[in-house]
Amino acid sequence: MSLLTILSPSTPSTPRTSGTPDAPGAPETTVPAQAAANPVRSVIPQVLGADLEVPVRGGRLVPYANLDYAASAPCLVPVGEAVAAALPAYSSVHRGAGYASQLTTSRYEQARHTVRAFVGGRTDDAVVFTRNTTDATNLLARCLPPGTTVVAFDTEHHASLLPWPDAVRLAPPAFPGEAVRAADDALSGIDGPKLLVVTAASNVTGELWPIAALAHIAHRHGARILVDAAQLVPHRRLNLTALDLDYVAFSGHKLYAPFGAGALVGRADWLARAEPYLRGGGASKSVAAAGGSTEWSDDPEQRHEAGTPNVLGAIALAAACDALSATGWTPLVREEERLLARLRAGLASIDGVRELSLWGPDHPRVGIVSFTVAGRRAREVAEALSSGYGIGVRDGRFCAHPFVGHLLDAAGGCADGSAGAVRASIGVGTTEEHVDRLVAALRDLATSP
Ligand SMILES: Cc1ncc(COP(=O)(O)O)c(C=O)c1O
Repeated sequence: MSLLTILSPSTPSTPRTSGTPDAPGAPETTVPAQAAANPVRSVIPQVLGADLEVPVRGGRLVPYANLDYAASAPCLVPVGEAVAAALPAYSSVHRGAGYASQLTTSRYEQARHTVRAFVGGRTDDAVVFTRNTTDATNLLARCLPPGTTVVAFDTEHHASLLPWPDAVRLAPPAFPGEAVRAADDALSGIDGPKLLVVTAASNVTGELWPIAALAHIAHRHGARILVDAAQLVPHRRLNLTALDLDYVAFSGHKLYAPFGAGALVGRADWLARAEPYLRGGGASKSVAAAGGSTEWSDDPEQRHEAGTPNVLGAIALAAACDALSATGWTPLVREEERLLARLRAGLASIDGVRELSLWGPDHPRVGIVSFTVAGRRAREVAEALSSGYGIGVRDGRFCAHPFVGHLLDAAGGCADGSAGAVRASIGVGTTEEHVDRLVAALRDLATSP
């Protein structure tokens, strides 16, 4: 079987088992032909595993309702194809004179250009391939000029909170304008280099942050801004130049390219002056014998990408950028908003289900919803959704402990805040049937003793 066959979306992913059809609410194994009913769907790229079947209680197989895109999204079909196409010539990058090496190097460097263009980067912005967002924020943390003060909101994901243990931490703002005012106040009292860190879209509530206004305030105080775009770029166009952002970080595996690459994109100067993130081949210009010194590359990308990079990860990431750009954001956003509205209306119609929100139900958001179910622990709900209905969601505190704690307190408290909440998140493979199945399952769970 060829690799392309393996990557084909119609590959049966789980062997069929015969079982007793006693799981409630889960449909039989037909995926509704939504493309026919909804023309927008026909332009949206498909994901691998759209026909994945999973066992539910009693052994029956049902189509998997993946509502956990915010954790890791499935691979886009064109991404799988791009990786398969690159594999036959796979070779070293930046090292070999051989044809395959030259071709792979060119594909890797082209991926850098594609990623830069995808986020609207300036021509002189560095694009450093990292493992993921966490790696990208940690890289920037290591490149800060001495004496830099970091300012971050308590609402951040741990990836954007923990790399700077001495950061000035700002409480969750009650409304977007208060975020801008709090950043303004905090930055005005700081001398020396400053970095404001903020998420573009919350991984807990999906709510969009006022990053343009925050960038403006940061720059008024001579600070730079890092935007954690992990949950924005799979859902919305980001234009770093238009928004005047200094750095953005994101992960391939949340952008339908689960091959282990992410990126830090932004101003080259801090990166070019910092100690290399990893010390080794590729980052060095010249290395002397014992007693001599090492000269590091002045190129910020090479300087921080020592060793053999994740070439296929970078190619996959670029292919995802290409596929989303080619689709266009209008149909992607329209379809997501339709499904999100359906999901939120469904949740709101169930007694005992409460959506978590920082800035209220009408604030714009991407396709991420966290909620609690009265009288049930989040883990119990998530397990019941999986075992009874073939639905995958995330539960817990989503690597945003301070923020989830704040939201649960604000929502009237919860017997055990550490149990967290349940999160449903949608993406290009989400269907109406997935949304309706979740709402029906939650209604069952919320009303059963
Ligand atoms: C907003 C946000 N930032 C950062 C991260 C960390 O991403 P990764 O685990 O890919 O490093 C996540 C992951 O969930 C996230 O949602």
